[in-house]
Amino acid sequence: REREIAKLYKVHEMARDFFHACLTKTKYGIQAKTYFLQRGINEKIIADFKLGFAPQSWSKLSEAFQKRGISDELLIESGLAAERSSGGVYDRFRNRVIIPICDERSRVVGFGGRVLDDSQPKYLNSSETLIFNKRRLLFGLDQAAKSIKESGFVIVVEGYMDAITAHNSGIKNVVASLGTAFTLEQCKKILRYAPEIRFAYDSDSAGQNATIRALSIIRGSGANVRIISIPDGKDPDEYIRKHGSAQFRKLIQDALPLVEYQMKRAFSEHDYSTLEGKVAVVEKLTPILAEMNNAVELNAYITRISQVIGVDEGAIRSEIHKSSGLARTRMVKPLN
Ligand code: UTP
Ligand code: MN
Ligand code: MN
Ligand code: MN
Ligand code: MN
Repeated sequence: REREIAKLYKVHEMARDFFHACLTKTKYGIQAKTYFLQRGINEKIIADFKLGFAPQSWSKLSEAFQKRGISDELLIESGLAAERSSGGVYDRFRNRVIIPICDERSRVVGFGGRVLDDSQPKYLNSSETLIFNKRRLLFGLDQAAKSIKESGFVIVVEGYMDAITAHNSGIKNVVASLGTAFTLEQCKKILRYAPEIRFAYDSDSAGQNATIRALSIIRGSGANVRIISIPDGKDPDEYIRKHGSAQFRKLIQDALPLVEYQMKRAFSEHDYSTLEGKVAVVEKLTPILAEMNNAVELNAYITRISQVIGVDEGAIRSEIHKSSGLARTRMVKPLN
């Protein structure tokens, strides 16, 4: 098994070099290179991330690797090729720009391949293997680690290009959760580098829902959380390219603490001019407020909620009291 894993790392590294050479050294790589340049990805980033191109062919990679003594079994096991029903193998990645995915020790463990046009699926990723576990990986962590430690927080984005463009513009404490639901494993991994996580997911409804899910998953992990809101329906990549990195840094600065983000959502989701709406807002916010351990902060929030929705502070306080009583009786041992 150890040997099998070593072989997988090796073949992934070879594949990364193969795709990178296709992009930078062949004539069919030119259109892919143009694609990157049009998206603002320059030569330096192409080199730093070893971006690549998988040619439009069923067998370019397989044939090249077979010539170098790589077995069909290994090609299939790595997910770089799939088995033909007629025997033999065919390349998984075809006519896509390639983004190598590395683990935190900078070993290549998988690939994301993007179409150059609007066809579907937009991204094709490596299948899960012994070395590629999407639930545990954070794209860009190896490149971001130093900056995460220095800044004391990590910015989590959805997509490959969000992370790459952020790095490109000098904001390097950024990793991508790759479109899947953020996991507790990913959270724990991040907390080894910094105590604070700032989510900067896409501002479309899918991104907002993913934010809510991430927040509930990491509750109780001890992570300090803030939420970066990207205006006008964009993702970080589009935002940075349109407004520049200084503007994006401002959004990072303005990230809302978890409680404020939840308050903003609760106020916008419910019509608090009605009694039902008032009850709903308070119900939504009490569990979050009950977890706060700074009394001064808590007081300030209670006052604000009371003023906005027109409910007596004492009533809100008593709901919080009930909710924290529940939390205490449910708790087996204290989180630390
Ligand atoms: P998005 O749909 O937000 O794509 O998915 P994007 O990153 O903005 O893509 P660009 O800018 O058009 O290139 C976010 C992430 O979800 C994963 C990818 O990791 C993507 O970056 N995803 C998305 C897939 O794996 N497959 C898909 O078909 C789409
Ligand atoms: Mn998205
Ligand atoms: Mn999208
Ligand atoms: Mn995008
Ligand atoms: Mn996006």
